[in-house]
Amino acid sequence: MINFLSRILLQTSSNFSLQFVLKSSTKEAQEINTQHYYLIAACILMFLVVAVLLLYVLRRFNHKKQPFPSSKTLSSKWEIPILVIPLLLVAIFFYYSLGISQKISPGDKRSPDVIITGHQWWWQADYPAASATTANEIYLPANKDLLLQFQSADVIHSWWVPQFGRKMDLIPNEHNFLKVHIKNPGTYYGTCSEFCGDQHANMQIIIHALSDTDFNKWLSVLRQGAIPDSGSAIIEKGKRLFEEKTCSNCHSIKGTASNGINGPDLTHLGGRKTLLTGYLTNNIPNLEKWISHPQLIKPGSYMPDFALDDSSVYAITEYLSSLQ
Ligand code: CUA
Repeated sequence: MINFLSRILLQTSSNFSLQFVLKSSTKEAQEINTQHYYLIAACILMFLVVAVLLLYVLRRFNHKKQPFPSSKTLSSKWEIPILVIPLLLVAIFFYYSLGISQKISPGDKRSPDVIITGHQWWWQADYPAASATTANEIYLPANKDLLLQFQSADVIHSWWVPQFGRKMDLIPNEHNFLKVHIKNPGTYYGTCSEFCGDQHANMQIIIHALSDTDFNKWLSVLRQGAIPDSGSAIIEKGKRLFEEKTCSNCHSIKGTASNGINGPDLTHLGGRKTLLTGYLTNNIPNLEKWISHPQLIKPGSYMPDFALDDSSVYAITEYLSSLQ
């Protein structure tokens, strides 16, 4: 049953594996979920106590056994535990949750490890210490205390990776922070959780958590920039078209003349597993479809239809897929 419900609620896309909110993939989520379990246990206990008392009253004072209501009132010695026990429970949980808030709060203002910017309808990730940028598929090191900064380039978005615990809003002209310590390498999924326009439902979050060594390797490749295969005529043609057809006004490909900032960075597009924030699997036919008919694939998106002929689409696709 739980599995069925979580499938409905949390499987954000058919491309993604199931995400279960009570599975804690970060230390912070674990703190929150532990409190959650204690709270559920306390609620069940309270429910059982009330249910047992209710059954006792129903049996002891029913119509047959006591046709005329008693005028006796409850002895005042019972009033004290009835008031004190629930109050004590509330106080304990209040104090406990204050402690957890403190533990998972970002605390002192050190500089963020990753800055995540929400755009209609994609994610940008900047790694300030490495002066590197990527889009949509976000890489993070596991087993490390990380500080993520959230901001928006347009409207309010909301970041929610169920297994990471907290949700965080991305608000224009504001900076919000989240402390994250991912326990194990792996791929984690989430989705934008604030309605942000036409393509809100397709604004998925993909996190690749790597071991520290693998993460540093990935970061150094990212920093190197793209090295398009200059020996291939079709890739050369694609690169030329990409720059001539004004794709480069919006997209940046590090290491080439393309340095637009309005659309997602495409430096290592060929190495991504998905396209369009998880909407399509990254392969040649899907990339061709997207470039030839962007408004059919994602209506309302800011990617214009350049009405390119088939051979141009083919060349640009070959070029972009070669950017590993
Ligand atoms: Cu971004 Cu909803």
